[in-house]
Amino acid sequence: MEEVYSNIGRLNHVAIAVPNIKIASDMWQKALGASVSKPQTLHEHGVKVVFINSPNTKVELIEPLNENSPISNFLKKNPNGGMHHICYEVSDLKSASRKLQAVGARILGDGNPKIGAHGNPVIFLQPSDFSGTLIELEQVE
Ligand code: CO
Repeated sequence: MEEVYSNIGRLNHVAIAVPNIKIASDMWQKALGASVSKPQTLHEHGVKVVFINSPNTKVELIEPLNENSPISNFLKKNPNGGMHHICYEVSDLKSASRKLQAVGARILGDGNPKIGAHGNPVIFLQPSDFSGTLIELEQVE
């Protein structure tokens, strides 16, 4: 009998790729009254990011730093920007990975966690296994 339990916790963030972070954050601020953080440059991830906090989660607007950025190709296909991924918190990535493997869901890359934009270990899941949605799982203590 298969054990039934939930791997996923809170929705940590929704990430939206944007061609111009200044234009995008101004719009979120002016039109939605959102409080937008100062832009941060994450060189090791090839992106500039702002955080938009709301009571239950946050949105991250991400702009590529250059052509080699992991979101550059996404923006070529979606020139106006668009939802890039959603991120769920998990308490244990190892157990989450085992469950994914057990049902044949694929982890991108070599399958091992990498340190994500918030300094925690993360994995990304194959979008075609999840209705075309890129899912990030972040281990949060
Ligand atoms: Co993310």
